[in-house]
Amino acid sequence: MRLRVPAVFATLSLLAVPSPALAGAHPLRAKNGMVVSQHFAASQVGIEVLWEGGTAVDAAVATAFALAVVHPTAGNIGGGGFLLLRPAKGEPIAYDFRETAPAAAAPTMFLNEGRYDAAKHHDSHLAVGVPGTVAGLHLAWKQHGKLPWQRLLEPAIQMAEQGFLVTEELSRSLAGVLPQLAKYPASKAAYSRDGKPYEAGDLLVQKDLARTLRRIAERGPAGFYQGETARLIAKEMAARGGLITEKDLAAYSPQVRVPVRGQYRGHDVISMPPPSSGGVALIQVLNILEGDDLEAMGFRSAASVHLITEALRRAFADRAQHLGDPDHNPEMPLARLLSKDYARLLRQTIRADRAAVSSPETFEWPVESDETTHFSVVDAERNAVALTYTLEAGYGSKIVVPGAGFLLNNEMGDFNAGPGLTDDTGLIGTAPNLAAPGKRMLSSMAPTILAKDGALRMVTGSLGGRTIISTVLHTILNVVDYGMNVQEAVDAARFHHQWLPDVIRYERHGLSPDTLALLADRGHRLEPLGLLGVAAAITYDKEKDRLEGAADRRSPDSAAVGR
Ligand code: GLY
Repeated sequence: MRLRVPAVFATLSLLAVPSPALAGAHPLRAKNGMVVSQHFAASQVGIEVLWEGGTAVDAAVATAFALAVVHPTAGNIGGGGFLLLRPAKGEPIAYDFRETAPAAAAPTMFLNEGRYDAAKHHDSHLAVGVPGTVAGLHLAWKQHGKLPWQRLLEPAIQMAEQGFLVTEELSRSLAGVLPQLAKYPASKAAYSRDGKPYEAGDLLVQKDLARTLRRIAERGPAGFYQGETARLIAKEMAARGGLITEKDLAAYSPQVRVPVRGQYRGHDVISMPPPSSGGVALIQVLNILEGDDLEAMGFRSAASVHLITEALRRAFADRAQHLGDPDHNPEMPLARLLSKDYARLLRQTIRADRAAVSSPETFEWPVESDETTHFSVVDAERNAVALTYTLEAGYGSKIVVPGAGFLLNNEMGDFNAGPGLTDDTGLIGTAPNLAAPGKRMLSSMAPTILAKDGALRMVTGSLGGRTIISTVLHTILNVVDYGMNVQEAVDAARFHHQWLPDVIRYERHGLSPDTLALLADRGHRLEPLGLLGVAAAITYDKEKDRLEGAADRRSPDSAAVGR
């Protein structure tokens, strides 16, 4: 086994100088494989797996475990997510390792004597769902991996055990979250030096996490869902009012699902099915937009922003009304939502000169955090993986399992607040996404792959709660409709609409004053914001047999690495 740690540190100093992918509108180009993630050390871990002859799934597994060490805001073993694989040969496949509600969960669990309690829902031991990441990664590896499982965890173990250098970005992030982490002694111990924030250049060592990762390396999922790790999780839950038991952990099972599929201007669009809303909403919007010539309308013209907004408004309304865990909602009208006929009907309801008004029905979707992470991988055979996973909020529940050294999610907050609780303050109480034993909470994550004429064309995804859907959409439109290269597509300013609240949120300076005025004339409400999403995308040019990758400069530690 080669020593991983020096390689990773070498990467750190190397990347003190921006890589070409970070320096301008030129994507990183490579022939034999590529990894784009939100941390350069994790991208490096993934590319080394490809060097050693690992598959895209091997590289994704190693990258995911590495992110759990170096990108603790969202990289995780205590959360869940989705892995979408388009093998070079054979059918695409979606791995669902979304968290589940524990057996003692109930639709009313976030209420106190009938009144909604936001802290219970988002910020407590009750907010923790049964983690899915370890089981999901293992299942994907078992079916599509080539290198030994232990090899894929070794870089993460080394970085946890021997430490890694804290970046400016991580030090700012940890300092910001420290007051919340400090509520829990194990969290404070894991992510600060006796309550003092880590500074850029400090070495962050995570011995407990290293031991947990070693158990997973040696025993596979049993090293997490049984034995010492499971006991430590259940002990913390029992001590502090959480619901997850050793039995819940032993019962966790990842699911293999059939991806949702669409067609957009000659491209096969492959994305994540429920329990994520991401793929359905994305394809619905693309279907609506296909009826118009966006390029002729002009990039970020008022007419095109209006049309995209109206398409998003309609898809998000359907999302709120229909989508949830498929195993608990067998009647979801997926075929209709994904059909071109339905898109045609929706298109007829769009007026070119006027914004629609989102229904006064008091529907709103529960708060979803921006803190998720996405990475994309392509190997030499052109197997492609899009993987998005999350702890829900940044650093999830903020609860580090004492003795086990990893953060637990607060994903139960993605369930609706309680039955009948829909009101105009932003609560929702509709049935498809109420908490229930073993149920998966609805997500917006949208790992997505495009193919054209039978060949891979694009791998993409983003963080950002509901805004994920808009970021993935823009990245695709920028390549397919506007002919941008992948770095330009990722760099370009974004905007978002999600039905309710009825407002277009746009990245500052992303829309010109005259465009804003024209949109306001049509009746749109507009709000600037700082940043929207963090994409990680790869395109493939079949004729040149070349990969192009783009890290998102909105997240400075991101990196595309190729071979
Ligand atoms: N927790 C964010 C999502 O699943 O979409």
